[in-house]
Amino acid sequence: MTGTFKTPPAGDATFQFTVFGDTRTRHDMHQKVIDAVVKHELDFILHTGDLVQDGTDTPQWPVFFQIERDLLRKVAFFPVLGNHERNSPQYYEFFDVKIPYYSFQWGQAWFICLNSDFGNAERTKEARDRYFDEQTRWLEDELQKSQKAALRFVVFHHPPFTAVKSRQTGSEPPVRKWVPLFEKYKVHAVFNGHDHNYQHHLVNGIHYIVTGGGGAPLYAVDGPIEGKTVKVESIENYVIIKVDGKTARSEALALDGRVIEAIEFK
Ligand SMILES: [Fe+2]
Repeated sequence: MTGTFKTPPAGDATFQFTVFGDTRTRHDMHQKVIDAVVKHELDFILHTGDLVQDGTDTPQWPVFFQIERDLLRKVAFFPVLGNHERNSPQYYEFFDVKIPYYSFQWGQAWFICLNSDFGNAERTKEARDRYFDEQTRWLEDELQKSQKAALRFVVFHHPPFTAVKSRQTGSEPPVRKWVPLFEKYKVHAVFNGHDHNYQHHLVNGIHYIVTGGGGAPLYAVDGPIEGKTVKVESIENYVIIKVDGKTARSEALALDGRVIEAIEFK
């Protein structure tokens, strides 16, 4: 099978990408999401993780690739690790990646893709802490380098803020420690998954968007955070972002084409 894909444009060219995640478990719903996404003119895809139910179970991957086939034959794909990938060798092999976190530039925008699945990254708490510290140093270095970019976007699986009550445990998730860096270096938006719904939180000028409605069973959004949560909906969804020079516009879409929410990033 042959296909084509776009490479990054030079300068201020307009481009468009999609963000979605949590495509595991309900294959029929995953297919419906892809059938909707494939109709858009796209430069690339950001996947927020939990591609499959169990990344170590090799037969699950051909199912994923069969569902996403028509999309992947024409659009570049940038994934991050979810907890369900289990940091499996299959993930690295099938996407031909060598490292669990990375960055890339597309036009005037800088994208930083992190690994928030610390639980599967290392076995002991000491090793996990070291892994977190190393990645955080790398993140800060990337954010410093990206200061001349017009737009900065960060992607990882576990959301720092959630409107899913059962996940508001009282103890802060480790990814919350990255928030001061996002603020210091003026990140425009952070994209996460893990919660199977759509959420938008605005915290100290940073937009946190959870788009985890790619097929996995939906979660209720029963705990909006006062003063932070802007929009929540428990629904299958994907996000389309159009970058026009130095500004970007995000539209979260339901599978029937309804706009759940539109946001401007400047
Ligand atoms: Fe997850």
